[in-house]
Amino acid sequence: MTLMLKIFKAGMLPALAMALMLSLACGRSEAAGKALVVYFSWSGNTEALAQEIQAQTGADIFRIETATPYPENYNATVDQGRAELRENARPALKQAKVENLAEYDTVFIGAPNWWSSIPMPVATFLEANDLSGKTVAQFVTHGGGGVANCDRDLQRLCPGAKYTEVLSVGGSSARGAKEEVTEWLAAIGFAK
Ligand SMILES: Cc1cc2nc3c(=O)[nH]c(=O)nc-3n(C[C@H](O)[C@H](O)[C@H](O)COP(=O)(O)O)c2cc1C
Repeated sequence: MTLMLKIFKAGMLPALAMALMLSLACGRSEAAGKALVVYFSWSGNTEALAQEIQAQTGADIFRIETATPYPENYNATVDQGRAELRENARPALKQAKVENLAEYDTVFIGAPNWWSSIPMPVATFLEANDLSGKTVAQFVTHGGGGVANCDRDLQRLCPGAKYTEVLSVGGSSARGAKEEVTEWLAAIGFAK
């Protein structure tokens, strides 16, 4: 008797088929992998978007915070952000490294457009955390300038990563961007 026939006779075929289906199903969910949402936000817009992404994906979340907070005054922060960009500064962070980074296959990373680029604390973060080999899904909030150089400048600081389409949301719409987030997640392959 062939091995297949013996298995069939033993009534194991349905069990094997089920095991195969389960392993295929698990394989699919693993394609998205474990995800982390990393964000920097000064006035809360990008934070709202980060929280929506977390809610829709079940990802972990990590906030980039500078050791010395930015001024509460808008103009003072605008000036400081411009000076830091010009100097290519690397402001110190409260916590620069994600200790369990190796666990994540996908890193969502969000920040406001500051002077058409990423805020320099995001550069500090990217230099402290090696994202090569991971999928990097960037999201940006802005005051009308869109993504500008934010994608280019982020990609320069995480070589070797795989990049998805960028989600760009106007700052004043960030708190109600549930549908944009759902559509973006579907477009980049993270639909639930
Ligand atoms: C320092 C600074 C620079 C900014 N530069 C730009 C800019 O160049 N283009 C733009 O569209 N918006 C700019 N904005 C507006 C922010 O991108 C926008 O308000 C964003 O949603 C703020 O996100 P947050 O609330 O997460 O900090 C700037 C804001 C700040 C504080």
